Amino acid sequence: MLQIKPDFSLRKLNTFQIDVQAACFCEVTSVDELKEALDYQKKQDLPLLVLGSGSNILFTKDFNGLVVKINLKGTKKVKNDATHIYIRVGAGEIWHDFVKFCIANNYAGAENLSLIYGTVGAAPMQNIGAYGVEIKDIFEDLEAMNIETGEIRVFNKEECKFGYRESIFKNELKGQYIITSVTFKLGNKTKKPKLSIAYGDIQKTLLEMRIPAPTIADVSLAVTNIRMSKLPIPAQIGNAGSFFKNPTIKKKVFEKLKKKFDNMPSFPVDDNNVKIPAGWLIEQCDLKGLRVGEAGVHAKQALVLVNYGKAKGQEIKDLADKVQQTVEEKFGITLSMEVNLM
Ligand code: EPU
Repeated sequence: MLQIKPDFSLRKLNTFQIDVQAACFCEVTSVDELKEALDYQKKQDLPLLVLGSGSNILFTKDFNGLVVKINLKGTKKVKNDATHIYIRVGAGEIWHDFVKFCIANNYAGAENLSLIYGTVGAAPMQNIGAYGVEIKDIFEDLEAMNIETGEIRVFNKEECKFGYRESIFKNELKGQYIITSVTFKLGNKTKKPKLSIAYGDIQKTLLEMRIPAPTIADVSLAVTNIRMSKLPIPAQIGNAGSFFKNPTIKKKVFEKLKKKFDNMPSFPVDDNNVKIPAGWLIEQCDLKGLRVGEAGVHAKQALVLVNYGKAKGQEIKDLADKVQQTVEEKFGITLSMEVNLM
């Protein structure tokens, strides 16, 4: 039976640990309960907010509506062919638990996405990515509930329109569907895994770990070590990972900027565009490690904004505005937020 709780603190339900209240709150553990929650929300004519583990959201005020926490569990093999295994995972499963399940069973493909906070259902929303791999690379399809009708629809990879931290669920279909499960296509045990270790510090870290012929477990460990060295643990210091996206700019603009800032790093996007690491831009503005009251720019990764304890969401937002403004003034580049603002 669905339990609706009034005046509920969301502090423990967002990794920024911002203390705001929801007018009402419920947790759903089945598709039927989710349907029930949506019926209640419509009947009471309440604004709706769906939460996974709240690892990509910044609350700046109380939410005067119904917050639904998705707690749909389950991990099931659905198909196995010559080279791949297909695993269907409930939207409420913790992403890193799923990665650990893959490593333990020697299913390849998710290892570069180790230690990303959040739930499985939230992951396709913004096509999570790290160290050269995005969820789209191991994605088969997903099931989602239409908020208006309560019907379940299957979306294949093309239909999700994945892009850099983008999907159809953040754009054309924003606010229309709730993801209930995701099916992944992973390399099975018979297939020699094709590892992605060229990106960032993975290779260097594997060498430091004295591992010449890495397995997927080794890659996962290397990624975990890199992330632990740079990124704050939300349970200790509130944060939501990268606060901004890495901006894409025209190659021509980049070449001009390069004349002034000759060590400016870039990654190719296509013939006409390059991506610039936002962390570098922020660091060049001398903002890395800056603390304003209870809000800060993380000292080891400038792309991460942190809550040192009692920050209000607005304090973090003000700091984000300052970062955006300073980067814009120095480089003429506009940073856009990766985190959702509420
Ligand atoms: N850099 C700096 N100073 C900093 C941080 C970064 O100069 O303080 C520069 C360095 O040149 C470094 C480059 O930025 O080589 C890239 O840094 P890093 O490898 O830490 O990755 P990122 O571009 O800052 C992106 C993702 C992360 C993901 C990492 C690793 C985005 C918005 N973020 O960060 O994703 O873990 O790559 O692949 O694309 C997240 O989305 O929450 C997230 C953590």
